[in-house]
Amino acid sequence: MRIILYLGKGGVGKTTVSASTATAIARRGERVLIMSTDVAHSLADALGVELSPTPLEVEQNLFAMEVNVLTEIRENWSELYSYFSSILMHDGANEVVAEELAIMPGMEEMISLRYIWKAAKSGNYDVVVVDAAPTGETMRLLGMPESYGWYSEKIGGWHSKAIGFAAPLLSKFMPKKNIFKLMPEVNEHMKELHTMLQDKNITTFRVVLNPENMVIKEALRVQTYLNLFGYKLDAAIVNKVLPESSSDQYLQCLIDLQAKYLKVIENCFFPVPIFRAKQSTAEVITPDRLYELSQEIFADQNPSAVLYSNEKTQTLEKINGKYVLSLYLPNVEVTKLNVNIKGDELLIDINNFRKSIILPNVLVGRKTEGADFVSGNLNITFAN
Ligand SMILES: Nc1ncnc2c1ncn2[C@@H]1O[C@H](COP(=O)(O)OP(=O)(O)OP(=O)(O)O)[C@@H](O)[C@H]1O
Ligand SMILES: [Mg+2]
Repeated sequence: MRIILYLGKGGVGKTTVSASTATAIARRGERVLIMSTDVAHSLADALGVELSPTPLEVEQNLFAMEVNVLTEIRENWSELYSYFSSILMHDGANEVVAEELAIMPGMEEMISLRYIWKAAKSGNYDVVVVDAAPTGETMRLLGMPESYGWYSEKIGGWHSKAIGFAAPLLSKFMPKKNIFKLMPEVNEHMKELHTMLQDKNITTFRVVLNPENMVIKEALRVQTYLNLFGYKLDAAIVNKVLPESSSDQYLQCLIDLQAKYLKVIENCFFPVPIFRAKQSTAEVITPDRLYELSQEIFADQNPSAVLYSNEKTQTLEKINGKYVLSLYLPNVEVTKLNVNIKGDELLIDINNFRKSIILPNVLVGRKTEGADFVSGNLNITFAN
């Protein structure tokens, strides 16, 4: 069983690349489910079919579904939902606002994760491909399994406090069945999913990006946070690459700009393998077009394989009370090293190439104290 998650900034081509990967896997003979957890769905458009939360066989071995988290909350979590909205209304919120607020932070993420867990455990598929929402939301989703235990305890705590202080007032709003009994069960699922997500033989994370400045920064943020959560990035897919040259001056300017950023991507993501997909002149919709795109990206490689499985590319540890950021840079001989910080970006000039990474929040605003290079790892110490 494999789980493949595609991440990246909005609009870079996550849905297109996920659907393309799933189509290629299915046509190689493995049973694959592609699942969209994004509230703004476009998977149905990419595949040219209507989708629902029930998996639909689009073609042989290729199943697709769209999870509508908000409907799911309203339908299946309605007790919890109406319980919270009644508390909020009691506190003075009007009905519409109370309903909106009753979708607690983390709820959507938790439901998306449960769908991934369910599909992975169902035994129905060899591969589950997840087309996720843009980075910010998905990073919260991925940090969730770890914090879920804390989260469910907090809800449980709130529940018992509410009963203690306001029982007479709340009694008429109380859910008939105790939904809180479900929390420990969900907690177990989250723990299981967390183990699956951290197992590099099961789960692979891939970032989709375009050769553009802001998009690259977002992709680097993905890499940083995946490393922090202990998840593995096994490929970067550069989508919407222009042809190598053009007789049109305007287009040539764009090509030159892309060439500069393609170099940046190579430096920043090394040693993670980088795949490319050209900007297509036609819309990449329908399984046949998606399959063509997958051939362009992966050629002979099996898209469901683990494409890179080495050491972690970055680690952050506290050593003797100080944060040490360690970057894995195999095959790099460091003769000249310069480290600079610009905002939340760490710029590392090694010999003649520049690598940059986005700092996790905990390091932003700190100065570097020193750097050393030991057995392929560049270790940077930050001041307190
Ligand atoms: N290689 C390509 N060539 C041409 N058009 C592309 C290519 N890849 C994606 N597109 C188009 O770009 C648009 C955005 O792609 P897509 O929906 O896959 O991105 P996304 O990252 O999933 O976006 P969102 O963050 O909104 O979910 C779509 O209209 C899609 O058809
Ligand atoms: Mg999308």
